[in-house]
Amino acid sequence: MANLIDEISKRRTFAIISHPDAGKTTLTEKLLLFGGAIHVAGAVKSNKIRKTATSDWMEIEKQRGISVATSVMGFNYGDYKINILDTPGHQDFAEDTYRTLTAVDSVIIVVDVAKGVEQQTRKLMEVCRMRNTPVIIFVNKLDREGRDPFDILDELETELKINVRPLSWPINIGAKFKGVYNIYEHGLDLFQPDKQKVTERVEIKDINDPLIDASVGETDAQKLRDDLELIEGVYPEFDVNTYLSGKVAPVFFGSALNTFGVKELLDCFVRIAPAPRPVQAEERIVNPDEPAFSGFVFKIHANMDPNHRSCIAFVKVCSGVFKRNFNYKHMRSGKLMKFSAPTAFMAQKKDVVDEAYPGDIVGIPDTGNFKIGDTLTEGEDLHYKGLPSFSPEMFKYIENEDPMKTKQLNKGVEQLMDEGVAQLFVNQFNGRKIIGTVGQLQFEVIQYRLLHEYGAQCRWEPIRLYKACWIESDDEAELKAFKSRKHQYMALDRDGRDVFLADSGYVLQMAQSDFPKIRFHFTSEF
Ligand code: G4P
Repeated sequence: MANLIDEISKRRTFAIISHPDAGKTTLTEKLLLFGGAIHVAGAVKSNKIRKTATSDWMEIEKQRGISVATSVMGFNYGDYKINILDTPGHQDFAEDTYRTLTAVDSVIIVVDVAKGVEQQTRKLMEVCRMRNTPVIIFVNKLDREGRDPFDILDELETELKINVRPLSWPINIGAKFKGVYNIYEHGLDLFQPDKQKVTERVEIKDINDPLIDASVGETDAQKLRDDLELIEGVYPEFDVNTYLSGKVAPVFFGSALNTFGVKELLDCFVRIAPAPRPVQAEERIVNPDEPAFSGFVFKIHANMDPNHRSCIAFVKVCSGVFKRNFNYKHMRSGKLMKFSAPTAFMAQKKDVVDEAYPGDIVGIPDTGNFKIGDTLTEGEDLHYKGLPSFSPEMFKYIENEDPMKTKQLNKGVEQLMDEGVAQLFVNQFNGRKIIGTVGQLQFEVIQYRLLHEYGAQCRWEPIRLYKACWIESDDEAELKAFKSRKHQYMALDRDGRDVFLADSGYVLQMAQSDFPKIRFHFTSEF
C-alpha cells in the first residue's frame, strides 16, 4: 500500500464553476489535454465532455442535450493526481453544483472577459465563501473584445466579495491581444491563436528586459510596465496562506479555446491549491491522514438502467484508505456494507478500484440505500455535515395522474428527493405535496423520471409562493400562535421541521415584524 501521506499530498480535488457559456467546458477539456487524459482538443465536443463516458447513464441527458449529472474526471499531471468534479452547466441544477462544492478542496471560477461576473457565478461564490473554499479565477476569452482588465478586477472584488490578486496580466485584448505577462513566474507568454498547441514562452529576466519590447513593441511594453507598477502599488503581494484561507483569489487571464494561459493556470494551481484538508464532522474534525477510512455521499447519479433501479453514489474519501470488499458502517442505517465493485474515475473512464485515498471520489453502485449526505466509516460514529438546503425558488403542487400508481409515485418522489433532485414539503393544512426547485427544468426532469423509472404519472398544479422559511422560536406560545395564524401556509419538510411558505415578500416582512420572537431561516441548517 502506498504511503498515505504521500498520496494525500498529491491529490488536488476541485471543481470548475462559471455562469453558462463562460468557458467551463472548454477549460476542462484543455486541462484534460494537458493531463494526457484526452489527446486531441475538440475530440470532446464542447459542453459535452460528459457525454462520452457518462451520458448513457441517463436517458434524459440525451433527450435534452444538457448534462443533468455531475461526474468526475481524474488524471495525472506530473506528480499530481487531479480530480475535477464536473458540475451541471444548466443553472436549473444549481443545487447539484452546491452539493458538489461540499466535496472539493478548491475551486476555479471562469469569468468571461466581456460579460464579467454573472448571476450564477455570484451565487456559487456565496457557497464557496460559506465554506472558506480557496478560489482561483480565470478570466477567459481574451482573444475577443472585452472589458478593461482593471475594471474586471474591481468587479470581481465587489461582486464576488473577495479580494483579488492578479498573477498574470494581459497585453491588450481582442484583435490586438498579444499575450500575458506571468507575474507568478516572471515570464512572457506570447499569444498565437491555436486550438491545439501550447503557449510560446519568452524567457525574460524581469519586467525591464528589452526582449519584451522586441516581442510586443515598445508602446505595449511600456503600457505593461505601467500596469504592473499600478498592480504592485494597489494589490498586496500574493500570499498563499491568505489564498488557502479563502480570503484572496489569484486571477489569471487567458483564452481557453486557444489553449492560452491554461498551462500557466494549471502549473500554479497544482502548486498552490490545497491537498485534501481536515473535514469537520458533527462530532469532531477528521484529518485525512488518519488511518481509518471515512467518507460521505455528495451526489447520487441515478438509474443508469431504468429497468433495474440502480444508481451510483459518489463518495468523497475524507480520511484513511477506502478498500474494496471491506466492511464499512453506513451511519444512517447502522448497517455494515461492503462494496465489491467500487469505481474510480480516470480519464473519463470508470474502472473498478481496489483502494482510494482522501481526495478521491469512488462511485458505489447502489439500489436505494444511500441518501445525499450519508457518512461511511470503519465503525466510528461520525456524521459529516452536508450543505444546508436553500429555500427553493419555484414551487408546484405535485398531483397523481394515475390513481393505480400511487405507490409508485410516492416511492419515486421519495427516492428522487433522497437524490437531492428537489425539495419536498407537505402542506399541514390540506396535506398536499409541494415540490420546490431552483428552476423550471427540474420539474420536467422529475415528471420524466417518475414516468420512465417508476411508471408513475404526475401533474403539476400552480401555487404562488415566494419563499420557504424554516422557523423556530424559544417562545413556545408565540410559535403556536404563529402556526395557528398561518395554518394554511405551514408545511413540514422531509425531516419533519416546520416550514412557513410565504406567498410574497410583503407577507414575509409582515410576519417577521408581527412575530419578533420567531426566527426565519432561508437555509435548512441554523
Ligand atoms: P460553459 O461550459 O461554461 O457553458 O462554456 P463552453 O466551454 O461550452 O464555452 C461556451 C462558448 O464559448 C463555446 O462556443 C466555446 O467555444 C467558446 N469559448 C470558450 N473559450 C473561449 C475563448 O477563450 N475564446 C473564444 N473566442 N471563445 C471561447 P460555442 O460556439 O457556444 O460552442 P462550440 O460550437 O464552439 O462548441
